[in-house]
Amino acid sequence: MSRIFTRDLVPGMITDEDVYSVNDQLIIARGQKLTDNYINRLVFYSINSVRIRDDSEEVELPEKPHEDTYSEKILASEEYKVFKASFEVAVKHIKGFINDVIEKRIKIDEEYLLNEIQSLIVHNDNSIHLFDMLHNMHVYDDPTYAHSVNVALICNIFAKWLGFEKEELDIVTMAGLLHDIGKTKLPEGIITKPGKLTDDEYNLVKTHPTEGYKILKETTLNPHIINSALMHHERMDGSGYPLGLEGDQIDPCARIVAIADVYDAMTSRRVYRGPLCPFKVITIFESEGYHKYDSQYIYVFLEYIINTYINNRVRLSDGREGTIVLINKFDLAHPVVITDDGWIDLSRDHSLSVEEII
Ligand SMILES: [Fe+2]
Ligand SMILES: [Fe+2]
Repeated sequence: MSRIFTRDLVPGMITDEDVYSVNDQLIIARGQKLTDNYINRLVFYSINSVRIRDDSEEVELPEKPHEDTYSEKILASEEYKVFKASFEVAVKHIKGFINDVIEKRIKIDEEYLLNEIQSLIVHNDNSIHLFDMLHNMHVYDDPTYAHSVNVALICNIFAKWLGFEKEELDIVTMAGLLHDIGKTKLPEGIITKPGKLTDDEYNLVKTHPTEGYKILKETTLNPHIINSALMHHERMDGSGYPLGLEGDQIDPCARIVAIADVYDAMTSRRVYRGPLCPFKVITIFESEGYHKYDSQYIYVFLEYIINTYINNRVRLSDGREGTIVLINKFDLAHPVVITDDGWIDLSRDHSLSVEEII
């Protein structure tokens, strides 16, 4: 059995694992003989490699030139290398700090932490490039801490988009940084477990908001930060956990963290797939239901993100390439693209979609 890049798959190969989407939906089962349709499905869900049975590999690979993907271009850039180095330092510092909070109950030096996050942003005045780099970061041994730094960065940029002043901005950033602190109380293997969790394991993971709240309520942190650890998995329609709160019962800061948290989980590179294209993220938010999130925040967030992709080259689902020239405010996932064949308004024809940024 060997792992084959999706772009190198050919019809006739047989899968040797179940392949899941970002929302745990089974895309292709183990033992499935691949067809063009199945391969397109994998591309759609940004699955970047699949385990294939060795006995199916006598299928000949077609010769085709290898073109750098968008994410390979980012990974090769100087800017990314500099960012990666400072990101790793920040993760290390924050890990040390979180351990101190838990073990020594020291007074939390918020200024030090905020500077840590700020220093990652300073060199990146173009915030979307920063998001692209975040999406492409390699998978860490310490996924909780790397995710915490990601969410803090996303919260910081998001709060600026919302027009927040320094004081609120700092609160939202800290809330992002500490939202998953309760995960430090979970048994070691659960967070890094590859593959699906059992029901028991999942129920255990669901205790992390309460555990986080217990840790932070002993501190002098702003109550919004403490509430965010408790409430970031609550949803506006009452479908979240641990308390099943709805609407205004959820701290506004936790509603912001919830969006940044889900966005990071959806877009981050995983062992089994590359980073998810932002246009697909919108489609997933749509299929999950925007009503789970605070509407005054979610639209601002998604619109800012999508707008930064104007002028980017993209590949459409029918293979054509083009440039994004206009974003449809009321249909963010379907922009207007100019191709060699002229303008295409994707909002008029949902059979076509943006497949990937190139
Ligand atoms: Fe969480
Ligand atoms: Fe999280």
